[in-house]
Amino acid sequence: MHPGYRRSPSPRREADHPGRCSRRTGMKRWTVPCAENCPIPRSPPRAPLLWSQRTTYSVTTRAKAKASSLWSIWWTQEKPWWKLKTIVHWPFSATQRRKLSWVQLAGHKGNFKAADEGTILKKFSENEMQCFDKLREDALLPFVPGYHGVVEKDGESFLHMTDLLANFDLPNVMDCKMGVRTYLEEELVRARERPKPREDLYKKMVEVDSGGPTPQEHSQRAITKPRYMQWRETMSSTNTLGFRIEGIKKHDGTCRTDFKKTRSKQDVVQVFKDFVDGNMNIIKSYLNRLSEIQQALKMSEFFKRHEVIGSSLLFIHDHTNNAQVWIIDFGKTTALPEGQTLHHDIPWQEGNREDGYLWGLENLIHTLESVGNEGTEGDI
Ligand SMILES: Nc1ncnc2c1ncn2[C@@H]1O[C@H](COP(=O)(O)OP(=O)(O)OP(=O)(O)O)[C@@H](O)[C@H]1O
Ligand SMILES: [Mg+2]
Repeated sequence: MHPGYRRSPSPRREADHPGRCSRRTGMKRWTVPCAENCPIPRSPPRAPLLWSQRTTYSVTTRAKAKASSLWSIWWTQEKPWWKLKTIVHWPFSATQRRKLSWVQLAGHKGNFKAADEGTILKKFSENEMQCFDKLREDALLPFVPGYHGVVEKDGESFLHMTDLLANFDLPNVMDCKMGVRTYLEEELVRARERPKPREDLYKKMVEVDSGGPTPQEHSQRAITKPRYMQWRETMSSTNTLGFRIEGIKKHDGTCRTDFKKTRSKQDVVQVFKDFVDGNMNIIKSYLNRLSEIQQALKMSEFFKRHEVIGSSLLFIHDHTNNAQVWIIDFGKTTALPEGQTLHHDIPWQEGNREDGYLWGLENLIHTLESVGNEGTEGDI
């Protein structure tokens, strides 16, 4: 018997997938890759998957995972990963610690699952898959997470992508949502055709600002989604700066998502200062990376031909001064009709589909420059 695990009871499974063990967690049995010292012979490694190849998240794929991913699978089953909003201090190796500190700063609970070491699974979206497909030959490729195709797990489809936190030790992470609006024009049009007032959005609005709803909305105790989104964008820096901070997780385990009213440039400067703990080398690295992203966006054919809504820049750094910025989340990024292109830095007027992404990026760069100037005068 494998130390700590019981062998799979299915002879067919064992024959098909030697080198796999199973264990019981509560009522469920999980089949996981063996530890490195497992005496059971392993399956020969498969050829690497082709770009965007449609794959099945098979046990063979998982068998390639190293022993450390076993812990992520185990941990995920014991306690849903989305609850990991604080770092778990555990007597594990650095790799295992990295796995345990994975965090999602935005989005719906349950949209992500742990996968093989260094990768994650995001709930499938046709739109996002098409974007990843197009991006494989675009100037933006070096700035988006590696995409490894569509996989099936537990009867659901997922996009298999690189875990951007994998190369960091106790990372600090910030999600900045880009653009002057976070809803598509078509969402606005659809909502006007069939306005569906929602109580949950009313409650969310009142939570942030009890004076937000109109008298009619107060009496209905409901508001429509576009109304909520438009209102929300006037509360945050989305309207004023073309980006907003969604969430921050720091290496000490603190996690903040209460930036709904962070609106002025000065407020944002303060948040960035806290985020980097005054480390101007990190600011410098972030600025270099943002300027590379800016150049790539200006060259990108993909960017020209898409309305980029709800996409974020994910800032990550750690105590080794490793600092990176990545473009994530193409769930709402929509192709324009053939022949149409966007400027991304002119004001949005309904119908022109402009998203203000480049304008927001310019403001973000100026904001970080201000952080640098306030930190060590003239050092940036
Ligand atoms: N490739 C990745 N590597 C590491 N972390 C990631 C990656 N992709 C997403 N995340 C984490 O998950 C969070 C949510 O991701 P994403 O925005 O793609 O999801 P979503 O469900 O579309 O959310 P929303 O629509 O609310 O923005 C990010 O803020 C980030 O913390
Ligand atoms: Mg997002």
